[in-house]
Parts: sequence; C-alpha cells; structure tokens
Amino acid sequence: MTGSETATRAADDARAALETDLELVAIVAVARNGVIGVDGEMPWHIPADMKHFRRETTGHPVIMGRVTYESIVAGLGEPLPERTSIVLTTRELDTPANVIVANDVDEAIAAAERASRERHGGIGRAFVAGGASVYEQFLPVVDRLVVTEVDRDPDGDAFFPEIDPETWRVTARDERDEVTFLEYERR
Ligand SMILES: NC(=O)c1ccc[n+]([C@@H]2O[C@H](COP(=O)([O-])OP(=O)(O)OC[C@H]3O[C@@H](n4cnc5c(N)ncnc54)[C@H](OP(=O)(O)O)[C@@H]3O)[C@@H](O)[C@H]2O)c1
Repeated sequence: MTGSETATRAADDARAALETDLELVAIVAVARNGVIGVDGEMPWHIPADMKHFRRETTGHPVIMGRVTYESIVAGLGEPLPERTSIVLTTRELDTPANVIVANDVDEAIAAAERASRERHGGIGRAFVAGGASVYEQFLPVVDRLVVTEVDRDPDGDAFFPEIDPETWRVTARDERDEVTFLEYERR
C-alpha cells in the first residue's frame, strides 16, 4: 500500500469507529501561516467570513470547544442563534436551552445526532467549529472541510492542522478581496 492509501485506510477506519450517519463538516478560517486564533480570540474581524460562517452553519448542530464557546458568547452576547451549540468541556457549565454540554467526543457526536433529528429537521449534518484542540481531534473523522483562507500572516497561538493534499482535494474555490472560500473532500 502507498502512504496515501494507508492514510485513507486510517481515516476510513476512524470514521467507521464513530458509528454515525451524520455528515461531519469542519469549518474554519485560517491565515496563510496556519494561525486561527490568538489569546482565545479570532485574530481578525472579517464581516464577509462571518456571513459565510452564518450561512453555512445556520440550521445545524455546531460542535465546539469550551474556549471557542466562551469567546462566541463574549462577542455576540449569546450562543450562536438558530443553531444548537454542542460544547466540549470537562467542566460543569450552566448553559441555555440551545446549548448542550458534552464531556467527550463520542458524547458530542451523540448530542449532534439527537439535535439534528429533534431540532434541525433530520438533515443529518453537523459542523465542527474549533478551536485548535477540537479540529485536531476531529480532522481524522470529518467528511468535508469548509475553509476560509485569510490573506494575512498574523501572530497567534492557535493553529489549524496541516491539510494533507494526499488526503484532501479542493472541490470548490471562490476568491474574494481578502479571503478565499474553499471546500475540500476526502480523496
Ligand atoms: N479561525 C477560526 O475559524 C476559529 C474557529 C474556532 C476557534 N478559533 C480560535 O481557536 C482558539 C481556541 O482554541 P483552543 O484549542 O485554545 O480551545 P477550544 O478547542 O475552543 O477549547 C478547548 C477546551 O475544549 C474542551 N475540550 C476539548 N476537547 C475535549 C474533549 N475531548 N473532551 C472534553 N473537553 C474537551 C476543554 O475544555 P475544559 O477546559 O473546559 O475542560 C478544552 O480546554 C481561540 O483563539 C479561537 O478564537 C478560531
């Protein structure tokens, strides 16, 4: 087997071990240097990307880490509207009705399945929205990547894992002023 076939087989195995029919989609905005965050916040404010994120994720469960959840609530004054936020944490959190706390990855997937069925019309898709620790854990099992490439090189302390071209191929590309919207599927 070639290296690429081995990687594909490993991803297939990881995906099968999850035992979910959900389509899992990672969505991220990443700078040229791989940076996605700094001091618990996004390193930029790009309205076109925020609109893109809202359009893609509205009506679906969105899985995220506790740090990302807290930064969204600090910024918006509330959790993501018209979506179910599924927050990975080892802590006890007091959360509103459109937020579900999950203590590990399996629990997050099960919560996303339930939320998709019971709250979002059974469309069967869930987004993985970071941060770095959550992308790291989910990249081996997501089906698709929705990536905004940001044409900057900011300082940062949170990074997206490498998108290996032997595993992922670009299926859509839309270049704008400061950003490029890309979609990737597994080879
Ligand atoms: N550019 C983008 O598209 C984008 C998107 C999202 C986030 N970000 C940025 O990424 C940075 C945050 O990333 P981060 O890695 O520091 O934090 P994070 O992934 O948002 O949250 C980390 C926390 O999630 C919880 N967690 C993660 N995996 C878990 C598991 N398997 N089981 C239980 N709990 C788990 C833990 O919470 P507890 O400590 O509570 O146990 C952990 O401390 C921020 O700067 C944010 O702005 C950027």
